[in-house]
Amino acid sequence: MSNLMLCKRRRAGTAVALAFALLGLDAQSAQPAQGKPLPDAEVQARADALLAKMTPEEKAGQITQYFDFGDPQDSKRVLDEMAAGRAGSLLFVYDPAELDRLQHMAVERTRLKIPLLFGFDVIHGFRTIMPVPIAVAASWDPDVAEKGQTVAAAEARAAGLHWAFAPMVDIARDPRWGRIIEGAGEDPYLGAAMAAAQVRGFQGDFIGSSGHIISGPKHFAGYGAALGGRDYDEANISDSELWNTYLPPFKAAVDAGAGNIMSAYMALNGVPGAGNRWLLTDVLRKQWGFKGFVVTDAGAAHDLLTHEFVATEPDAAVRALQAGVDMEMSPPFGTSVFKTLPQSLAKGTVTMAELDTAVRRVLEAKIRMGLIEKPYVDLKQAQRVLTDPQHRVVSRAAAERTAVLLRNEGGLLPLDPNKLKSIAVIGPLADSARDTLGPWVFAFDLNETVTVLGGIKAKAGSKVRVDYSPGVTMPARLHPSIFDQDPKMIAKRVEVDDASELPHAVALAKASDVTVLVLGEAQNMIGEQASRSSLDLPGRQQELLDAVIATGKPVVVLLMSARPLDLKNSKPGALMNIWYPGTQGGAAVANLLFGEVSPGGKLPYTWPRNLGQIPMPYAHLRSHQPNTGEQRYWNEPNSPLYPFGFGLSYSTFEFSNLKLDRQTIAPGESVPVSVDVRNTGGRAADEVAQLYLHQRYGSSARPVRELKGFQRVTLKPGETRTLRFELTTAELSYWTSAKHAWVQDETTFDVYVGNSSQAALTTTFEVSKSRR
Ligand code: BGC
Repeated sequence: MSNLMLCKRRRAGTAVALAFALLGLDAQSAQPAQGKPLPDAEVQARADALLAKMTPEEKAGQITQYFDFGDPQDSKRVLDEMAAGRAGSLLFVYDPAELDRLQHMAVERTRLKIPLLFGFDVIHGFRTIMPVPIAVAASWDPDVAEKGQTVAAAEARAAGLHWAFAPMVDIARDPRWGRIIEGAGEDPYLGAAMAAAQVRGFQGDFIGSSGHIISGPKHFAGYGAALGGRDYDEANISDSELWNTYLPPFKAAVDAGAGNIMSAYMALNGVPGAGNRWLLTDVLRKQWGFKGFVVTDAGAAHDLLTHEFVATEPDAAVRALQAGVDMEMSPPFGTSVFKTLPQSLAKGTVTMAELDTAVRRVLEAKIRMGLIEKPYVDLKQAQRVLTDPQHRVVSRAAAERTAVLLRNEGGLLPLDPNKLKSIAVIGPLADSARDTLGPWVFAFDLNETVTVLGGIKAKAGSKVRVDYSPGVTMPARLHPSIFDQDPKMIAKRVEVDDASELPHAVALAKASDVTVLVLGEAQNMIGEQASRSSLDLPGRQQELLDAVIATGKPVVVLLMSARPLDLKNSKPGALMNIWYPGTQGGAAVANLLFGEVSPGGKLPYTWPRNLGQIPMPYAHLRSHQPNTGEQRYWNEPNSPLYPFGFGLSYSTFEFSNLKLDRQTIAPGESVPVSVDVRNTGGRAADEVAQLYLHQRYGSSARPVRELKGFQRVTLKPGETRTLRFELTTAELSYWTSAKHAWVQDETTFDVYVGNSSQAALTTTFEVSKSRR
């Protein structure tokens, strides 16, 4: 496995890399990489030696993972399992001292002294919180993803964790689905690039490299296609969509060396993830050569019963194991069904060889991670790494690269602090540290978090008056989520009386030179169990927005959101999506507002005009009536409000000279493409060159456009750069349901290059055997 695990490294060349360099760190890793991977033969021999000593109960326990939320009664039950050698892994413990204490128990009190593997949801940072994953995708810069997860891995590893349940690489084309925030959006090409970069960031050069942890891409597969965007509901995906759209990010993550994969909860085309042998064995292992271990999602082996897929708990365990699951993540507070495996062995419904295969994979992961030699936590080192101020620099640089500027009428942005005397900062999210971090974080420190208000105050300086009002109250959810049960996780909001606060906010806007409105969804309104049947601003925020715009004063709206929201055609002077920008979010936003950096992010999803249009991926088929495409709904235009790949800058750019090396290639050959990008504006800024392909005919009808290349570049005013892309068989092939196979057709391709999915610069080439 070691060769597979050697991750491909990329050249550093971005602001984030620069931040690393300035800090005297290896540009690829928050800690200098050490050592080399253990030879495969040694790992296998050591795993086999341990396996030979294990009882069936210990084997079943070794492949069982328990939640430990610290609840005294439940923890006792988990500790009893551990002490008896019947727990191979724990999740949800993240305090370094507690991780160390538990590891001491596991090693010192169990018969075989096998350390625990500690897994955790390290989704976008551990102590230092990075922008949420969809934001990172909006940077269109895989280095941002890699560096962010490198820092997250360093912190998590120092705290005593070994494995992240991340990245989530599910394609999401329905913004009602709350977990859209955890992935890279609607596009498989962008999704694959982000998936691979995150795996590299988490794992470093190989599994077990210093300061790194195992990466577990999830949720295999199809979770993002939940019916109606309702979290956990079934997904029904055609084979063409599965291979061409939903699976490529997983394949990229496996190719990047991911050591783990998490199976999905829901049924894909009728087969629940944890029981899907076709996915977990035929595709993942046989076709893709995955060598790591597969874990279920929480309680998902047990839930094969709930799904009405099996008849009994022992059946659930056997079906999951035989499908290709190597470890059961037990239900929170619940019992493991893998506990029944010894019984099934005795009955002969499962074989020792099947059980051993899973146990061996888990033991191998522990051996590769060096846990047998070094199981414990260095608490002093943990403290140092967790509070490393350099990590915050990486977080701020990342947040600056993720913002997407959607409107900027008359060049309202950037603001000039020398010309302003007063700014009104308004909105329920403007000074909420907890919301600034986004969901799926646990080990954060709110005192280290910079809100938008905090960032603006610090940047504007003493000569500019900054007034603040929340404006309106952020409403509570009708149905609280699992995360709302922990008081630390929810934002402590200032309760305001909307009837008096809204007019107060409007008065502040009237009395100020410019208003910055921070609106959107609270962090617990997006994420797991946070699907929503509306894209409207929650509560009375729309009313606030309309009233502030009605003052006629310049208004900048900053959206804290990870799904496209419907602002009801409101037209603020400027609109920027800042996502949930993390620990340094407010500082990054202030740098963007005042023009220290120019926004360069681009949308990783299509932004519809309203809810009724979804799903509306840009990569759709042409239909037999392309000319009336805009009139599909009789009541309004069918085009998006903002297309996939869109985002403005403080500068302007021009694309020209789109050239192909050859006009005709034979199947199997590559086409080099080049294009010139020129910064035609007056300031240094970033642009993302995006290359889209359209196949005119072939074995299947293909989408009107598909992203097949992108590069983010920084250009000085007046600078022109020639960018090169290479279209290889990988970009020119696809899965066709006409043949149930991958094909590369002899056909004509249109190439488009520009700064969104509506790029206009175009040329064509042919793929033809007659070239040979
Ligand atoms: C989620 C996973 C997560 C797991 C453990 C589940 O509910 O679907 O993404 O890793 O919980 O927290």
